[in-house]
Amino acid sequence: MYSKITGTGSYLPEKILTNQDLENMVDTSDDWIRTRTGITQRHIARDDQVASDLALYASQNAMKAAGISNKDIDLIIVATTTPDMIFPSTACILQNKLGIENCPAFDVQAVCSGFVYALATADMFVSSGKCRNALVVGTEIYSKIIDWNDRGTCVLFGDGAGAVILSQSNEPGILSTHLHASGSYSNVLSAPGSISGGKVQGDPYINMEGSTVFKFAVKVLEEVVHEAISQNNLEAADIDWLVPHQANIRIIQSTAKKLGIPMDKVVVAVDKHGNTSAASIPLALDIAVRDGRINPGQLVLLEGVGGGFTWGAVLMRW
Ligand SMILES: CC(C)(COP(=O)(O)OP(=O)(O)OC[C@H]1O[C@@H](n2cnc3c(N)ncnc32)[C@H](O)[C@@H]1OP(=O)(O)O)[C@@H](O)C(=O)NCCC(=O)NCCS
Repeated sequence: MYSKITGTGSYLPEKILTNQDLENMVDTSDDWIRTRTGITQRHIARDDQVASDLALYASQNAMKAAGISNKDIDLIIVATTTPDMIFPSTACILQNKLGIENCPAFDVQAVCSGFVYALATADMFVSSGKCRNALVVGTEIYSKIIDWNDRGTCVLFGDGAGAVILSQSNEPGILSTHLHASGSYSNVLSAPGSISGGKVQGDPYINMEGSTVFKFAVKVLEEVVHEAISQNNLEAADIDWLVPHQANIRIIQSTAKKLGIPMDKVVVAVDKHGNTSAASIPLALDIAVRDGRINPGQLVLLEGVGGGFTWGAVLMRW
């Protein structure tokens, strides 16, 4: 038995924050942001929106695309770094909002690799026959953990959600999954605050050593993509679509160049979304499926890297 993505969906909050808007908030410029990151705008959630609200719309879109109803879902995994609350999990809150009863529901925390981790986990449930239709979601509201006075980080991130339905299938589907982590890099990219005595202790905002993150990301993404391709006796030229984590156009271009994958086979959404962390891969995937780029039978490779550090890839036949 195999697992196969049978529907995708996404949701972006209405409010758009442009680079020009940011020029009025911090000492930055549209030119600096576009040249260094490729980002021109990002979406920002309303103050009263939480991660499960964004996830709800994305999930409904994915279920509709898969042609299934809430009664057909028997597993929910939500990847998020910005959960609604400490507990219960955002997956349980989403389950209730979707009107689903009794199926297992849990969150995965692997920061920007979260969706790849969640999809690899769902694959084990579905391909082993334990579940028929898993709802796998990446949803983030990074605008709530950004220091809007820190130009080094506030220009990079955005809010959004993406979702897929992973269903049992007689044909592949997911061909292989590849997950890695290295906790020794945990201080390079973090939101180090913790809760104690009913208050956030320490710095609640994102801290990042930008150039260290950049170099590490390019190195491990090349490695993990090679791992996925070689384990399946394929070559980079066989990949029809690379759907990378959307952190920075220069990371995406460097990875593609090192692998010899032309940019017209790479799905790019970072220009319009910024870095939406765990939501970025399913958001980009949904766009490329809906605009007709990704078609049945094609080889699609997802790859992501994020805080932890964590990184991974999922190779699939669409
Ligand atoms: C963040 C990033 C764009 C910075 O680019 P960079 O070329 O490394 O730039 P540096 O950090 O060396 O900073 C260069 C200069 O730009 C300045 N700068 C930083 N942010 C700026 C901004 N938004 N606007 C204008 N100038 C800025 C710095 O202060 C520095 O000035 P200085 O030379 O006077 O000290 C880049 O390191 C990066 O993309 N890193 C990866 C980030 C990422 O993807 N994180 C998530 C991973 S999942």
